[in-house]
Amino acid sequence: MQISLLIVMLLAPYCAYGQTDTTTFTDTATGITFQTSEHGSGMKFGIALPITPGNDFIGFFNGSVKDVSWAGADIGGSIMLGNLLVTAWPYTTAAGNSTIPGNATEAAPVPAKCKIPLGDVRLATGYATSEVKMYSGVGAVKVLSKPISKGVFQKGDIWQYTFLCQNCMANSTIALDQKEETMQLAYVVGSQPPEGHYQGAPLTEHTDRAVLYFSPNITAAKSDKFAQWAKLAEAPPNCAPKS
Ligand SMILES: *[C@@H]1O[C@H](CO)[C@@H](O)[C@H](O)[C@H]1NC(C)=O
Ligand SMILES: *[C@@H]1O[C@H](CO)[C@@H](O)[C@H](O)[C@H]1NC(C)=O
Ligand SMILES: *[C@@H]1O[C@H](CO)[C@@H](O)[C@H](O)[C@H]1NC(C)=O
Ligand SMILES: *[C@@H]1O[C@H](CO)[C@@H](O)[C@H](O)[C@H]1NC(C)=O
Ligand SMILES: *[C@@H]1O[C@H](CO)[C@@H](O)[C@H](O)[C@H]1NC(C)=O
Repeated sequence: MQISLLIVMLLAPYCAYGQTDTTTFTDTATGITFQTSEHGSGMKFGIALPITPGNDFIGFFNGSVKDVSWAGADIGGSIMLGNLLVTAWPYTTAAGNSTIPGNATEAAPVPAKCKIPLGDVRLATGYATSEVKMYSGVGAVKVLSKPISKGVFQKGDIWQYTFLCQNCMANSTIALDQKEETMQLAYVVGSQPPEGHYQGAPLTEHTDRAVLYFSPNITAAKSDKFAQWAKLAEAPPNCAPKS
């Protein structure tokens, strides 16, 4: 069993509370304004919220295929274990190639509509990559990463995934408290893509890529345009390999 990045996150120190390190950024592709944090790899993560705390948020990932094969942002706190992790990764020809030694699975054909960045929502129940599983909510509260198509693309090496995280904040035990002004969150950047190019594909990453903490200004992330932006989200393409 492989030890994942999550253990690194558990050991990292907290930084000063009450400070924010995000900046206001409006994405030209969608017109959505986010509080964004940029990591040394060039990976950018952003968050937009409604004025009145609700169950949804809008998220944004942007980076280079060369540097970032998958990225995840923890939206429940600085510790990934037991908190929701939103992930996204670009389409690469390596998708489907397992990097687990001795287990190079045959790449499943990726449908044309899925040759774009994909995202999903996961919950880590343990320290191994196999324990970072898709999370779809409890009962009728369906948790879903819904792409905003104008903000989902790959151009050369650059990829972007903009999404409505539906019901991601329905359960405050595993997601941020929107009543706070700021909160320390975390994200990870991986050098290996998941095992396949479909939502819920097992993560292969288990090495030492950087883990970043960021403290979004939650107050500044709130916009009265949120509902209008949220309407841009669509059902995710079904990219699951046919069994
Ligand atoms: C996306 O990431 C690339 C590579 O780091 C960068 O050049 C580009 O400006 C970014 N775009 C946005 C909208 O942040
Ligand atoms: C998977 O890896 C093998 C060996 O490195 C390579 O020949 C093959 O082209 C890869 N498959 C894809 C879909 O990239
Ligand atoms: C290889 O990977 C497949 C798909 O993830 C998995 O079902 C299988 O158990 C793995 N085999 C070994 C020997 O790890
Ligand atoms: C909220 O999340 C916690 C931790 O995963 C879980 O035990 C609980 O059942 C969840 N509650 C609801 C209403 O989904
Ligand atoms: C967060 O942003 C608001 C403006 O939206 C500002 O008034 C406040 O000082 C900021 N808080 C911090 C801790 O930077």
